[in-house]
Amino acid sequence: MTRIVRADASGIREAARLLKGGEAVAIPTETVYGLAAGVFSAGVEKIFTAKGRPQDNPLIVHVSDTAMVRLAVREVPQAALVLMEAFWPGPLSIILPKHPAVPDVVSAGLETVAVRMPQHPAARAIIAAAGTPLAAPSANTSGRPSPTCAAHVFSDLAGRIPLIVDGGRCAIGVESTVIDLSGDEPVILRPGGITPEQIRRFLPGVRLHSGLLQEGEQPASPGMKYRHYAPAAEVIVFEGPSQNVARKIRQRYHNDQDKQKDPLILCSEENVPLYQDLPVRSLGNGAAAAESALFYELRRADAQHHQILYFHYDELMGLAVRNRICKAAAQNRERIR
Ligand code: TXA
Ligand code: MG
Repeated sequence: MTRIVRADASGIREAARLLKGGEAVAIPTETVYGLAAGVFSAGVEKIFTAKGRPQDNPLIVHVSDTAMVRLAVREVPQAALVLMEAFWPGPLSIILPKHPAVPDVVSAGLETVAVRMPQHPAARAIIAAAGTPLAAPSANTSGRPSPTCAAHVFSDLAGRIPLIVDGGRCAIGVESTVIDLSGDEPVILRPGGITPEQIRRFLPGVRLHSGLLQEGEQPASPGMKYRHYAPAAEVIVFEGPSQNVARKIRQRYHNDQDKQKDPLILCSEENVPLYQDLPVRSLGNGAAAAESALFYELRRADAQHHQILYFHYDELMGLAVRNRICKAAAQNRERIR
């Protein structure tokens, strides 16, 4: 049975007790909910089983203070100290050379490991109370959109884990930015809550992995090669000049075959007027709003039985949203001129 508890003192104590006993427990973070287990515990195996996660996809190690980082990594270079000072606690995961004590199952056999200090106070309190760094991927069934509230975790993992700590709706709504500092130059492997521009102010030489820029390139990190973040509905991404995209989506909508699938249009607030008479849902204005709404709305569309989603992407939604929705759509994309 899976219990849901509030993220108060007693909920935090209960989570820490289970974690110390080698269980995997769902916890809130500011990005998405995580399915956490002590890095050195048997709970790590349970994470993979509960999620149905491929074994070759490494986990992020979560810490409650910078001292804990030393348990997970072999060395902390100057560039990492700079980023930790600037962005921790917060949505930035930093890949560093792995400490030999960290089990292979955590790093998927790699010589490196990702570390992050979450901003959510309950997450840090649970890590501190458990007294160990926690390995935690997003708390969804592998392939599904990441959970941004406790109910989403429950719908994916009920019966598979003992406890969900409910810390409310996640403030950011997409996963952390992942940056690799284990090589000669800093590379962003996954866009997220912290933008490349923000990082560039501290590390001018940072670049985006080529897999994020070009189609058909090597995936940036093991986790990026799988179809991901996908609702049950079919997703089609349209991008280009707004008026032309809207014309195209309206055509698709009136196509009989699509119409039987109860289509829903997702777009920025400012583009909603282009779809006045059609079923449309706004993701708000700008990147932060779109990030916060994205996974939530994908899951809501499933709950409301829409079988096809037209996603009107515009640049103001930002790189993190583009990366997630393109993964959800797989090859289903149209660039409109
Ligand atoms: O915001 C987040 O990061 C959330 C919350 C729970 O903290 N966690 C999360 O974990 O998104 P997960 O497992 O869903 O995504 C981890 C990503 C994957 O794409 C994985 O391949 C990559 O980080 N990753 C982890 N360790 C790595 C490593 N050593 N080298 C390359 N990529 C790594
Ligand atoms: Mg994930």
